[in-house]
Amino acid sequence: MAAIYRRIFCGIALLQAFVASSPLPLDTMPRYFQNTPITRRQVSVSQIEHELGPLLSPNSAIFLPSDPEWANVNERWNTLAPPDIEIVVQPAEESDVPIIVRYCNDNSFEFLAVNRGHGFTTSLGTFKGVQIDLKQLTAINIEKDRKSALFQGGAWAREVIGTLWDRGYVTSGHGRYEGLYGLVADNIIHLNVVLADGSVISVNKTSHNDLLWAMKGAGHNFGIVTSFKLKIYPKKVETWHYHNYFWTQDKLETVFEELNKIQDHGKSPVLLGSSYGQIYMNQSLSKTEAILWWTFAYAGAASEAENILRPFNQIEAISEEMGDVPYPDIVTPQNTDIASCGSAAYAISTVLLQTYNITAQRQIYDLFNRNAALYPELAETSRLYYEGYAVKGMQAVASASTAYPHRDENHLAFFATAVPKGSDLSDPAKTWAKDSWDLWNAGQPTRKPATYVNYATGNQYELLESIYGYESWRLERLRGLKNKYDPNNRFRFFVPIVAADEEPKRIHG
Ligand SMILES: Cc1cc2nc3c(=O)[nH]c(=O)nc-3n(C[C@H](O)[C@H](O)[C@H](O)COP(=O)(O)OP(=O)(O)OC[C@H]3O[C@@H](n4cnc5c(N)ncnc54)[C@H](O)[C@@H]3O)c2cc1C
Ligand SMILES: *[C@@H]1O[C@H](CO)[C@@H](O)[C@H](O)[C@H]1NC(C)=O
Ligand SMILES: *[C@@H]1O[C@H](CO)[C@@H](O)[C@H](O)[C@H]1NC(C)=O
Ligand SMILES: *[C@@H]1O[C@H](CO)[C@@H](O)[C@H](O)[C@H]1NC(C)=O
Repeated sequence: MAAIYRRIFCGIALLQAFVASSPLPLDTMPRYFQNTPITRRQVSVSQIEHELGPLLSPNSAIFLPSDPEWANVNERWNTLAPPDIEIVVQPAEESDVPIIVRYCNDNSFEFLAVNRGHGFTTSLGTFKGVQIDLKQLTAINIEKDRKSALFQGGAWAREVIGTLWDRGYVTSGHGRYEGLYGLVADNIIHLNVVLADGSVISVNKTSHNDLLWAMKGAGHNFGIVTSFKLKIYPKKVETWHYHNYFWTQDKLETVFEELNKIQDHGKSPVLLGSSYGQIYMNQSLSKTEAILWWTFAYAGAASEAENILRPFNQIEAISEEMGDVPYPDIVTPQNTDIASCGSAAYAISTVLLQTYNITAQRQIYDLFNRNAALYPELAETSRLYYEGYAVKGMQAVASASTAYPHRDENHLAFFATAVPKGSDLSDPAKTWAKDSWDLWNAGQPTRKPATYVNYATGNQYELLESIYGYESWRLERLRGLKNKYDPNNRFRFFVPIVAADEEPKRIHG
């Protein structure tokens, strides 16, 4: 059947096949490249559209740079080091994904899956090629056993949370239900995966179990997930309680001391789903001293929550607000909804921490005010972010059982500032990020820097071990699996375990 795909006739852009820029000797080429007509160095995007379009299922779409929707389709959260997307293919069916991957292989094009475009590591900036946009693959089906659901690979938070909640369920993630149920990785039952060579495999306890271990923490290095089965849980409460506080800087020490107490080395109350903080210049309150804004969310009654939050209620606030809302709406008062994430060129640094070192937090705060005075244009968007989740569910899972190495870390903190377009503030922004990072790490002199993989920035001072674990067996095991499942390192654009300029080991035969 002929595919109904988007037709654009004026595409004149040329897609540079990567063989042209980095020729591979024929004898080291994988089989699927050897079949390719390697004289075909430059192919126009409209030619690709005409060749690939008919191979795809109806309702699949292909976007070319000349398309009026191009900018929308390629919108990203961070534009500091964006991938160079030459053409976008939007599969309508999971079965289209292996077809696209094989087409790319046959023509020596790089490919990159995209879901919501929040990936912000600078390694994405080394990509040039075909974007496989999973926007249409968003189906969510609760299984008959009512203990799990099948999500397509393009499903995303708001739809997942809303759909499940309406039907009486919740699931987990590095988020508000982590204290009860752990990470997303901890809830995976089954993954349908397209490997680099275009083959389709099942990944679960009895099928490619070795890869299941790696996909739980490093999956973006190994394949494209077209759908996955995840555990779900009956919702136990109808509303979440939130309480937000604005504090002046003189309360900083007390606030962090109380945060450490409530966090209690990982024993924080599991129903206190999240405590987020932001330190920023609130122009209407002060132009010289950043303020502290903290928001807490609790799965249950206001009275229970307020009991736990009593120490914070005793810290005199500039203003406070509280309320009770259904779970899908908790993102709005906590400032984590769609409206709160604008796209810009962000300079970022991130850390995982066990506890807050009060001295270090004060130093990072003082640095913030100093830099805000020096760079007023950066001051408007600069923020220190603090994320505290209940961690009991996450910490209940054995460390060696998944590729996620940081189960002993309790807090996530990061600095971000948007570099204004056309400004020369990129270097000061990056230095500010680095200096904050240094202070955070100096505050835990007996520990090594740790980075949450999805917050990895690509900053050169961020070691791979800080992301995938310092125990040498972890990276060894990951690289062994890489050799087995992606020997040509096609998946190397998001926090790669084998960097683009390292020569991957090849398996012959
Ligand atoms: C403002 C902000 C807040 C955040 N808050 C949280 C948070 O609370 N908790 C948390 O855990 N994380 C959080 N993150 C981090 C977030 O999890 C990562 O940025 C994540 O990579 C975003 O996924 P995405 O689909 O939007 O990004 P994308 O850029 O679309 O994808 C990220 C990477 O995953 C790959 N990928 C996407 N879909 C698939 C697939 N189906 N199969 C295989 N590979 C795929 C892409 O190729 C890309 O390399 C936050 C990020 C931002 C910017
Ligand atoms: C694992 O995958 C195999 C092959 O697709 C399948 O037969 C089996 O049911 C799967 N197991 C689980 C637990 O999903
Ligand atoms: C500044 O603080 C006030 C509360 O005192 C708040 O209402 C307002 O939204 C804040 N402004 C910004 C930009 O965060
Ligand atoms: C806290 O941070 C300061 C400043 O970096 C450091 O000197 C001190 O050793 C840290 N304290 C602890 C307990 O790690």
